[in-house]
Amino acid sequence: MKLSWSHAVLYVQNKEVMLDFYTNVLGFQVTDRGEIGDGGPEIIFMSQDPDEHHQIGMIDTRKEDGPSNSVAHVAFRVGAFEDVRNLNHTLEKVDGINIMPLSHGNTLSIYFNDPEGNGIEVFWDTPWHVSQPQGKPWDVSMNEQQALEWVKAAFQDESNFGPRQDYHDKRRAELNA
Ligand SMILES: [Fe+2]
Repeated sequence: MKLSWSHAVLYVQNKEVMLDFYTNVLGFQVTDRGEIGDGGPEIIFMSQDPDEHHQIGMIDTRKEDGPSNSVAHVAFRVGAFEDVRNLNHTLEKVDGINIMPLSHGNTLSIYFNDPEGNGIEVFWDTPWHVSQPQGKPWDVSMNEQQALEWVKAAFQDESNFGPRQDYHDKRRAELNA
């Protein structure tokens, strides 16, 4: 299994200031934004890579000034569905780890913590894109075909559900415009 870097999600105090910096200074574009769950805090997704839905995410729930409470999670992509399942199996044998399988429709992810409590997401891309944020728990005991059928049924009525490649092609055209 190889973990490829994908994105980080930060807790921030002032999303307007942070958004201005990341977009106008660093050149990111907002790719999606919305409430987490029903009535939860807003998450803002940004990218300047057409093949990444988000490279940076921000949630403005940070209360304290200390520097060590700003990362919600870092995320790595794996190349095969079985990598997620095998890692889940490995993690189940580690004491003190909480594992949460969550699909964003465009991913089948597991979230877990390292020994000091830092959040980690490891995910496999599904063939689809769908507007974010989205999240539904999934059953890690499913095989790949079952999992893909479940994802399609669970997310196909959500907004902008469609083939992943169409989304990346559209983003590439927007970034080159
Ligand atoms: Fe993530």
